[in-house]
Amino acid sequence: MLILAPSILAADFTKLGGQIEETVKAGAEYIHLDVMDGMFVPQISFGMPVIETIRNCTDKVFDVHLMIEDPGRYIEAFAKAGADIITVHAEACTHLDRVIQQIRNAGVKACVALNPATPLSALDYVLDGLDMVLIMTVNPGFGGQKLIPYCLKKVSDLRTIMKDRGLSIDIEVDGGIKASNAKEVIASGANVLVGGSAVFAGDITANTKAFMDVFAEVGKE
Ligand code: DX5
Ligand code: ZN
Repeated sequence: MLILAPSILAADFTKLGGQIEETVKAGAEYIHLDVMDGMFVPQISFGMPVIETIRNCTDKVFDVHLMIEDPGRYIEAFAKAGADIITVHAEACTHLDRVIQQIRNAGVKACVALNPATPLSALDYVLDGLDMVLIMTVNPGFGGQKLIPYCLKKVSDLRTIMKDRGLSIDIEVDGGIKASNAKEVIASGANVLVGGSAVFAGDITANTKAFMDVFAEVGKE
């Protein structure tokens, strides 16, 4: 299934609830929540209290992307705040296997993210236990960057590895995704597309529908 996950990082925070509802009405299935700690990435964004508050706006899947050092410290807290999926960066975990178990034990879906320069081999031994893999298509930390083209090769390599192993795990892509490159991104093997600026800059309904149109077109092919 093709899924759009709008990243609220690019939303107008004075109108957050309404903007989330708008994108959901237009077809978004996940809400992507970018948590930044000023250490793993330079920016500081938001944490549990914001997530807890917007949990009241929608029943859609909360896809929490933790761009924080040593995320094992906060798994239970984010699960309690309303996360349905928790993504941790392989680069931020000394004990990745343990953190994945922690996410599962919290009753939440587990996803591991890889920065552009991190090889797929980082997932060799843990892939089978994941619900989703997030392939970063930019260096994390900021919205509005350009997609790094070699990351799509990484997505297709991962899809091949999954096929060989008989796995059908979701592949999410994050950074520089737009309706105009969505077709190419999907063709590479991704099925969960994060959109920040491409969803929230300008007309949110029209922007979301532009992604839905691409999904419908790809579905027909
Ligand atoms: C980047 C974040 C992204 C970001 C995407 O570090 O993880 O989720 O909000 O923004 P766009 O779609 O504008 O590149
Ligand atoms: Zn993200």
